[in-house]
Amino acid sequence: MSYQLGSIRKIVSGEGSLKELPEIVKSFGAKAAVIVTDDGVYRLGLTKGAEESLAAAGIKVSVVHDVPPEPSVEQVEKIFEQAKAHQCDAIVAIGGGSAMDTSKLVSLMLTNKVTLREMVKGKKPSVRGVPTIMVPTTAGTGSEATPNAIVLVPEEQLKVGIVTDLMISDVALLDPSMTAGLPAHITANTGIDALCHLMECYISKKNNLLSESFSLHGIKLVEKALRRCYKTPSDLKARELMQVASTFGGIAIASSSTTAIHALSYPLGGRYHIPHGLANAILMPYVMEVNKPDCIEKYAVMAKAMELPCAGRSDEECADLFVKELYALNSDLNIHCDLKAKGVTFDVIDDLIDGASKVTRLLGNNPRDLTREEMRDIYEKVLKANS
Ligand SMILES: NC(=O)c1ccc[n+]([C@@H]2O[C@H](COP(=O)([O-])OP(=O)(O)OC[C@H]3O[C@@H](n4cnc5c(N)ncnc54)[C@H](O)[C@@H]3O)[C@@H](O)[C@H]2O)c1
Ligand SMILES: [Zn+2]
Repeated sequence: MSYQLGSIRKIVSGEGSLKELPEIVKSFGAKAAVIVTDDGVYRLGLTKGAEESLAAAGIKVSVVHDVPPEPSVEQVEKIFEQAKAHQCDAIVAIGGGSAMDTSKLVSLMLTNKVTLREMVKGKKPSVRGVPTIMVPTTAGTGSEATPNAIVLVPEEQLKVGIVTDLMISDVALLDPSMTAGLPAHITANTGIDALCHLMECYISKKNNLLSESFSLHGIKLVEKALRRCYKTPSDLKARELMQVASTFGGIAIASSSTTAIHALSYPLGGRYHIPHGLANAILMPYVMEVNKPDCIEKYAVMAKAMELPCAGRSDEECADLFVKELYALNSDLNIHCDLKAKGVTFDVIDDLIDGASKVTRLLGNNPRDLTREEMRDIYEKVLKANS
């Protein structure tokens, strides 16, 4: 089987790396940049340094700062109109997956004659967009390295992934100080999202030599750093490890794919507006436990990557340790969602199963063909644990 990895052109990482931004923008010959961000990030002042340094370098800067969380097709179209009015020749996304996905789509829409609605229906753009520079402020989605952007289609109560290598961004600028102010629960949820990307890509039917190197090293970094980030938000070394792990998750997605955790989380996001990271996080250990019989060796390898006490233990025992550690992680990070308040009750489980079953793009790569009963069991357990 052949496999491939469409890759981001450059990653600039480490504390203080944001100061490289003007040179990076200039390297594309760009004279006018639009910073795309969300209101929360904007109000925190996280775009200020970029605005000032770009202006000081003689680059015209505009800011579009109203990307909503987990945007819909219409909302992305609105941001596109605003960005277009600024006549930019580079886009700098500063924010989490919502701002980064929006920026990637806006960039493509600026250079292609295809509308977002057409892309949602499967029409492909033909050329790359204007250069995109991604400055993640969460360490989770890995959107800075993926060929994906996810939008909500409200009339279908569905989140849809648009996938094209043309959308892989040009540069990721990973400055850990940009994540230091993340509230603890967002650190936790988005961090587990990164872990899901890394683990799912490794157990996916699409796993390969390229993706697994990133997966396994990323898993090791998450295990080292996520609890530290949660307990001590200002621990910039741990923040740096999480940012790199998150980007590795994105690179792994670019070559492999996510699987059942993401498939089962889609209806929770699309219908009940549970944030992407949180929806994955509450499902994560339960789905991984159900997959275990089909992945004993791989779970043992991941347990070793996490440096769990595997010496002298069989693969089966290491796999058990691994699943136990996933539950412990969720517990230590206080992962919890009031599902009832969001309208997710035991009565809607059949709808959730129907919704997840439609995400064949991901479910088809799961190492185990999940039955409806297995999905029901997972959702029931998640509901019990989150009531
Ligand atoms: N393209 C991909 O490959 C990919 C992968 C996974 C998820 N996604 C998508 O990404 C979106 C979710 O992104 P996300 O989880 O990063 O969250 P997000 O971008 O929606 O941000 C969540 C919240 O965190 C706040 N925030 C962000 N950075 C902050 C900081 N440094 N300090 C304080 N607050 C901060 C934001 O203001 C926002 O309120 C979803 O739409 C999801 O579907 C895309
Ligand atoms: Zn995800």
